[in-house]
Amino acid sequence: MQLSDSSAIITGGASGLGAATARRLAADGATVVVFDLNEAAGQALADELGGAFVQADVTDSDQVQKGVDVAAEAGPLRAVVNCAGIGWAQRTLSRDGTPHDLETFRRTIEINLIGTFNVIRLAAGAMAATDPVDSYNQRGAIVNTSSVAGMEGQTGQAAYSGSKGGVIGITLPVARDLAPAGIRVNTICPGLMDTPLMNAAPPDVIDALGKSVLFPKRMGTTAEFASMAAELITNDYVNGAVIRLDGGIRFQPK
Ligand SMILES: NC(=O)c1ccc[n+]([C@@H]2O[C@H](COP(=O)([O-])OP(=O)(O)OC[C@H]3O[C@@H](n4cnc5c(N)ncnc54)[C@H](O)[C@@H]3O)[C@@H](O)[C@H]2O)c1
Repeated sequence: MQLSDSSAIITGGASGLGAATARRLAADGATVVVFDLNEAAGQALADELGGAFVQADVTDSDQVQKGVDVAAEAGPLRAVVNCAGIGWAQRTLSRDGTPHDLETFRRTIEINLIGTFNVIRLAAGAMAATDPVDSYNQRGAIVNTSSVAGMEGQTGQAAYSGSKGGVIGITLPVARDLAPAGIRVNTICPGLMDTPLMNAAPPDVIDALGKSVLFPKRMGTTAEFASMAAELITNDYVNGAVIRLDGGIRFQPK
């Protein structure tokens, strides 16, 4: 499936992996519609790429529906890349015996898992209403962002890993649900990526993190993530897949 003459939604598109994906999909010919909470960065990127910015919280159905309408208007809507997400680190029981805060656990699941599904379900409606692009009735492709922590979460990652494991878990059933509409669904599990968040760490920490990767011994680049997202959108035979993008790293308990 080609991206030219179509629109693509990128959630969390104002920063990091989402921003790199917005740049890549725009370069491949899509009109990008950036969903994010960060208006300044999201609008600036949309202006740079000739796309649109929608200030949408992925957990808010009305805001997401408005954004989907913008993308459908600029469309046909053929691609969604879900990158919006937050991290949270806290032990289930701290060393001093304090239990994990329930509200932050809930909020992490709300944004990373429920927010992802909210965008999928509403965007799928707009995609399903488009004319198919081929004789197999293909209409669009959705890419989600989980994490290798969704498979091998570290100490203190119960909330984050729970949310990202949920994204892995919904990938196949959602792909099955959306197959009759001609929509493919895949999920990327990044390892350590060189986003602004990661680069805020001291150089020796970044160096040590890079050395924990099997090969190559460095963090992944945002361009490598964007390349994988573009492949999952344009390669018509990848569906229901969960793909690690991690240089072979396996997270240890800490
Ligand atoms: N950076 C990594 O090493 C790494 C590794 C594995 C997985 N991931 C996942 O990749 C995704 C992107 O990570 P990143 O490093 O680019 O993060 P980032 O913080 O640079 O970007 C995330 C973006 O999501 C937006 N966002 C947060 N909550 C939102 C909401 N409720 N509605 C709309 N937008 C919202 C933020 O404003 C931000 O612009 C996340 O889901 C993250 O969990 C990142």
